[in-house]
Amino acid sequence: MPFSISSTTPAPRSHRRTRSRHASVGGRMLRGCAFVMILSGAAFSQMASTPPSLVRPAGITDTYLDARVESLLQSMTVEEKVGQLVQYSAGQPTGPGTGRTDYEDMIAHGQIGSLFNVIDPHEINKYQKIAMEKARLHVPILFGLDVIHGFKTEFPIPLGLASTWDPSIVEKASRVAAMEASADGIRWTFSPMVDIARDARWGRIAEGAGEDPFLGSAMAAAYVRGYQGSHLDSPDSIAACAKHFVGYGAAEGGRDYNSTEISEHTLRQSYLPPFHAAVEAGAASLMSAFNSLNAVPSSANPFTLKQVLRKEWGFRGLVVSDWNAVGELIPHGVAADGAAAARKAFLAGVDMDMVSSLYHDNLQQIVSSGQATQAELDEAVRHVLRVKFALGLFEHPFVDESAAPKALYHPDSIALAQTAAERSFVLLKNANGSNGKPLLPIPTAALNIAVIGPLGDDSSYPTGAPAGAGPRVSLPAALAQRVGEGHVSRFKGCGILDGTDDEIASAVAGAQKADVVILTLGESPEMSGEAASRAHLGLPGRQQELLEAIVRTGKPVVLILFSGRPLTVPWAFDHVPAVIAAWLPGTSGGPALARTLFGDVNPSGKLVVSWPRSVGQEPLYYNSLNTGRPPYETDLAHPPADIASRYVSRYIDEQNTPQFPFGYGASYTNYTYGNTTVSLPRLSAAALNRSLNAGTDAAALTAEVEVTNTGSRSGLEVVQLYIQLQGTSVAEPVRMLKGFQTIAIAPGEAKKVKFELKPEAFAIWNQRNEFAAEPAKLKVWISPDSAHGSPAQAEILP
Ligand code: BGC
Repeated sequence: MPFSISSTTPAPRSHRRTRSRHASVGGRMLRGCAFVMILSGAAFSQMASTPPSLVRPAGITDTYLDARVESLLQSMTVEEKVGQLVQYSAGQPTGPGTGRTDYEDMIAHGQIGSLFNVIDPHEINKYQKIAMEKARLHVPILFGLDVIHGFKTEFPIPLGLASTWDPSIVEKASRVAAMEASADGIRWTFSPMVDIARDARWGRIAEGAGEDPFLGSAMAAAYVRGYQGSHLDSPDSIAACAKHFVGYGAAEGGRDYNSTEISEHTLRQSYLPPFHAAVEAGAASLMSAFNSLNAVPSSANPFTLKQVLRKEWGFRGLVVSDWNAVGELIPHGVAADGAAAARKAFLAGVDMDMVSSLYHDNLQQIVSSGQATQAELDEAVRHVLRVKFALGLFEHPFVDESAAPKALYHPDSIALAQTAAERSFVLLKNANGSNGKPLLPIPTAALNIAVIGPLGDDSSYPTGAPAGAGPRVSLPAALAQRVGEGHVSRFKGCGILDGTDDEIASAVAGAQKADVVILTLGESPEMSGEAASRAHLGLPGRQQELLEAIVRTGKPVVLILFSGRPLTVPWAFDHVPAVIAAWLPGTSGGPALARTLFGDVNPSGKLVVSWPRSVGQEPLYYNSLNTGRPPYETDLAHPPADIASRYVSRYIDEQNTPQFPFGYGASYTNYTYGNTTVSLPRLSAAALNRSLNAGTDAAALTAEVEVTNTGSRSGLEVVQLYIQLQGTSVAEPVRMLKGFQTIAIAPGEAKKVKFELKPEAFAIWNQRNEFAAEPAKLKVWISPDSAHGSPAQAEILP
């Protein structure tokens, strides 16, 4: 499905249609937004006083929704209002030190607004019954869960899903997740994670869409559309929660929860856009992050939570803190005690307190003592009630307990999980084997395959479903289905983190008897995600030793890397002919890999993170600034050969370039790209800004390229459009992605690929932090990745 910032193709149009049909908890109209973005702070508030006009389906208007919220609000006591702002994780004692688990009693007294981590529909109904029957005002509980890449049917991890470069796959996958989770009684997911991640050490890079704000925005909106469906009050829709607002992915040193320092320019240009896209797509909620941002913790940051989110973007949904993020304001050092932490988070704009219990314990007193106003309390409660009304929870608070089993693991969902996995694999290398032909795909005929390595069985896929649940087929089993049981042998070789000499020796003996070795190495699912930062990005344990021992057998080796991040394995890239990044591919990963290895599927995934050569290069991202001393060579001599090549921005012991650039992914066929052409040699900054002000959708420039499939197989190619601006008031990245399209292309076929770029593609966050176009020299590349192609040149005149 084509997708570009400017495209007149169905994706953006349907995006907008969907947004306007969404339940009215999200942001303002795009037109208004483009206008808002180029105004000053004073004008933002002016704009924000006009309520966004988003309409619910079936003729139910925002006004109606607001009226219901207001009428309920008027009958609530302060205690009941505070209750709506309190969230606990079932099974966990309430806030540190309090130790209460008497949720039933608290619900009966209207003291809980949301519970999460309850996954048994019977339990959900049990709690809901208390809220609906015992509590005075019968306000339903909102049940949440981290439904990240599927509920029971597991899709590839988000990093893998993003590697498809196909928002429609992400949208469909999250629709399936919504259908399964809602059938279980869960109506709120803490997903998508839309944090930009430029550092592979950070374990949560696995949970996002990588390093690029444009791609990240397209994916963010797709998740929201999928989860929330055509309207939120449909029983199979769940409220999305874009997290972690904001800057969490920029953790210093890649160490989870660490502080971040991000200039306002970079924040607006790189870290905020995916959140804005989620809001524009109608996201019902956002989660405030753990990290401090420029010394102010994100969960007590009025600039991001109030100025940007509420005033500039007009967000009317709910902001929930991350887990105990309110309590963590104390160790952060901005609050001396729990009461101060609650006050700071609340006044900064955190509506709901996840698990710390500090709102429960302190908010009434904070309001009664005048440290926060009644109006401020009402506003936070409004945000929560609005989501509950929008979800139709008051009308349908209970879940049909017999429905869940029928909704889970539907054959169509399993098939979609397989397609998503197939599209997520990135072929990193496919060199010639001894027959002078690329090693992959492997011919099925008369082959003895040894599958060697600690990964690739059921247990290696990210879980979420109980062990044994769901139709899982391991990689060896999927291969055996293809070539026959007797032709596939399996050797562990070593553990993920450990291993013995005997294990390695028996794997080597197994390899010697095989025609081809499939080596399955990498990380366990627990080695990425939250609290899984790594200082070393090589193969853990004895896996490197195993790899070298197997390669020494001289057998053809295909390396499949399972991981939640790129791994620094330069030795493998030098010595192994074929390497596939499979990420953590989910329920249908085994069959998807088998089909890819045998060539039923031609790989088309492309990297959404720059793949480092070594950890020392991190943070590493393609859209970096040029510096005043860019190295001009791509292959730097080590040590520097002369003075001229030394005093540039470089390492003396490593290349600057990544092992594989952002956007890269090989295929079983070959594509050649013609020259990029653009429709106009000159644009006018003034005209672009007029269009931005007016919210004009018309393309400002079109760019075109011809792509030819010069190989012998059909393929899907992700065609990417990048621009560069030179001469602007602030330094702009060497390249910025502004469009992408996937084309299907037959052998010998040549296709013209056209992109339409809207005015916003050329606007930047300027020195005054306004979003506007400026005079500049313009380069436009349409290329297979972020490092190749030759640009068309144009100019933006004043
Ligand atoms: C994570 C969030 C998650 C929350 C609830 C936190 O530790 O940072 O991403 O949604 O827990 O499980």
